[in-house]
Amino acid sequence: MKKLRILLIVHEQLVPPDDITGKTEAEIDEWRTEYNVMSTLINLGHNVRVLGIGDRLKELRETVRDWQPHIVFNLLDEFSGIVSYDHYIVAYLELMRQPYTGCNPRGMMLSRDKVLTKQVLAWHRIDTPAFRLFAHGKRFREPKRLRFPLFVKSATEDASLGISQASIVDDMTSLKERVEFIHETLQTDALVEEYIDGREVYVGVLGNTRLTTLPPWEMDFGTLTDVQAGIATRKVKWDRNYQVKHGISTGAAKSLSAEQEQTLAKNAKRIYRALHMSGFARLDFRLRDDGRVFLLEANCNPDLSYGEDFAESAANVGINYPALITRIVNLGLSYMPEWRTFEA
Ligand SMILES: Nc1ncnc2c1ncn2[C@@H]1O[C@H](COP(=O)(O)OP(=O)(O)O)[C@@H](O)[C@H]1O
Ligand SMILES: [Mg+2]
Repeated sequence: MKKLRILLIVHEQLVPPDDITGKTEAEIDEWRTEYNVMSTLINLGHNVRVLGIGDRLKELRETVRDWQPHIVFNLLDEFSGIVSYDHYIVAYLELMRQPYTGCNPRGMMLSRDKVLTKQVLAWHRIDTPAFRLFAHGKRFREPKRLRFPLFVKSATEDASLGISQASIVDDMTSLKERVEFIHETLQTDALVEEYIDGREVYVGVLGNTRLTTLPPWEMDFGTLTDVQAGIATRKVKWDRNYQVKHGISTGAAKSLSAEQEQTLAKNAKRIYRALHMSGFARLDFRLRDDGRVFLLEANCNPDLSYGEDFAESAANVGINYPALITRIVNLGLSYMPEWRTFEA
């Protein structure tokens, strides 16, 4: 492949060191993705610069103008501490006519908004759990149409913030308590959904116009389900000791029927298109015993760490890590934002 000038943009506190000798696993975990992507791009022979982004655009603007990167590799998931602002950075790159990797601003805006995602998918008749939004600052009113058990989460936070066993509620009193907990601790609206009891399966998608789906990847909650509900809390997702203790792991989903595999792949592509996503994404589903498939969440620019679900499911079909990173770069280079269609 041609040697490219690649500007890797990361959170200002997650700029990886050039050399990881002497670092502990816990230290590395902080900026593992950034390090994996940076070192892979360098090993592929590209000319890489890393830029930490805090709450200023000046350096970004100047580097894009002066260095003229072929592509910006986007690993940001917030701007100035505000998660929903990350798509403005991508929009800013587009205004500068600067190619970038991953999702476009419209797809980011739609997919990061859990409620809007559900509303769009309802129009496409794609199942997501029945829900109601409890706005922050509004008085609690009993939901009439939802059936317990319910699941309470933040409407806007991600990374399982505010999610624990107490998120599953069986009656009005605990529902009210948990909604207030979300309002008070996270200061966001609370999204209340019907709890979908079933297998948790993730499907990766790569592409802009022609889409590739990766094999369904299942979260195996191990022994956790002997004592409590299998849900992806923060500990389940990131606490290594906890994962080992309970035998929690992810891997290729076993014994799915051909029909289930097809439904997952078909729905994944339909959702990706309905939400105007580009680059790559990971769609989180729950499969119920009755065969119904529900989308829990569409993640644009999902975690790209080596060994994590997205990269592992790609490796499972022969796309090794450098090949995956290269595909993501190429998808960024070939994405057609509006300024390009006018240019053509
Ligand atoms: N309606 C639901 N039914 C069952 N489990 C759910 C539901 N919503 C969320 N969960 C559980 O909580 C986890 C995190 O929820 P998610 O909506 O993906 O939020 P986040 O953005 O924090 O990842 C899911 O992976 C799943 O295990
Ligand atoms: Mg999730």
